[in-house]
Amino acid sequence: MSSGLGAERGADESRHGMWSGRWLFVMAAAGSAVGLGNIWKFPYMAGENGGGAFVVVYLLCVALVGVPIMMAEVLLGREGRLSPINTMRALTLTSRASSAWVLIGWMGVLAGFLILSYYAVIAGWALKYIVSLADGTFNGANGEFANRAFNDFLANPGEMILWQTVFMCLTVYIVAKGVTGGLEKAIRWFMPLLLVLLVVLLGYGINSGGFEQGVDFMFRFDWDALGVDGVLVAMGQAFFTLSLGMGAIMAYGAYVPSNVSITTSVVTIAVLDTVVAIVAGLAIFPIVFANGLEPDQGPGLMFVTLPLAFGQMPLGALFGALFFVLVSFAAITSAISLTEPALAFLVEEYNAKRSRVAISLGVICWVLGLGSVFSFNLLADVHVVGSMTFFDFVDYVSQNLMLPLGGLAIALFAGFVLPKANVRAQLGLKGGLPEFLWNTLVRFVSPLAVLTIFAYTIYKNIG
Ligand code: PHE
Repeated sequence: MSSGLGAERGADESRHGMWSGRWLFVMAAAGSAVGLGNIWKFPYMAGENGGGAFVVVYLLCVALVGVPIMMAEVLLGREGRLSPINTMRALTLTSRASSAWVLIGWMGVLAGFLILSYYAVIAGWALKYIVSLADGTFNGANGEFANRAFNDFLANPGEMILWQTVFMCLTVYIVAKGVTGGLEKAIRWFMPLLLVLLVVLLGYGINSGGFEQGVDFMFRFDWDALGVDGVLVAMGQAFFTLSLGMGAIMAYGAYVPSNVSITTSVVTIAVLDTVVAIVAGLAIFPIVFANGLEPDQGPGLMFVTLPLAFGQMPLGALFGALFFVLVSFAAITSAISLTEPALAFLVEEYNAKRSRVAISLGVICWVLGLGSVFSFNLLADVHVVGSMTFFDFVDYVSQNLMLPLGGLAIALFAGFVLPKANVRAQLGLKGGLPEFLWNTLVRFVSPLAVLTIFAYTIYKNIG
């Protein structure tokens, strides 16, 4: 069923390896999707944007925009069976389309570098907090102490670099070992553990005494607290949290066996990602409320409010440390997917050894990440554009500009350019309602929604 360069090699397999079945693919893609976006960003974004109403809009965006674009990425990946850049090269040939579509692949590689560079820094904070909670630093601490602890850490570039380096080394180590020996192995371990830890923490949240308030906060539909901005934030978040628009899922799609149903897998992945975000909220908000704290603390929610809350609770050091172990696992299974588009491409182009390429990519991302480290201390007053530090800028450009643009192009390519017959074969469509739904979502609903976020972001920035 594959075409172009993939078919020329004769087998319906990727040269990089294949997922050992449907479930491994689902766990790998869910591992990519579930990350700092779910556990760090989602709760504070919901907190800042009024809770329940934000959650509803976010769910709609995941279902109507996220699912079709993810299906498009997987189907393009499986059709090409190569890295996103070479997949797009092959598919533009099959489709007799302009080679400009290959830019999807190049931009994805670049976005992957940018995101991973700062992602490793924030994930490093989570690693550091495993230690800080485990050694009882926060036992009985007050708000001032928790704030100061976080600010002192941010002011210390040496320590931040140490943890960023640890995270980067772990990522490179796993990635270097290949699809089956590295990625799958890590995923087989981390994903079930992550789900267990999440359930344990949910139990802790339920017993904290603030559960009702937490549930009420997440599911009470206060539309006034949302506003237009909130709707657009929810859309952007749906995009980032599902790892869409930069080819990570397209790269993973190349390793999906032909007999796996794309639709069922993608729906499962989106449901898993959403459940983790909601459960993370249901674990975090009760702990926040039980300690008389406010949920709208911004990015500091995870690194100031939570350690503070854990410090007040029985067995807080243990459960707090477990919480940050969970965050770190989630971040690693996302980080490995951020490298895959560039890694697979370099292996294909230069016939290079995967481990060598992994190390080189790791070094580049590490160096780039130093810019984000220094954005919190040495270079905090250096503004790249407007009032944005280097970190703000890299985060902004990758998440708000590159991912939506990439997603838009992917939806349009799958919806209008790739021959109908290939799409129908990949998705198993035979007309009727399913095909109508697919066409409507991928051709119109998701592109228009993404264009709206995109236009609004630019408008807001110029304004
Ligand atoms: N989805 C990941 C998260 O929620 C981030 C990510 C974005 C990973 C893009 C891969 C590609 O943290």
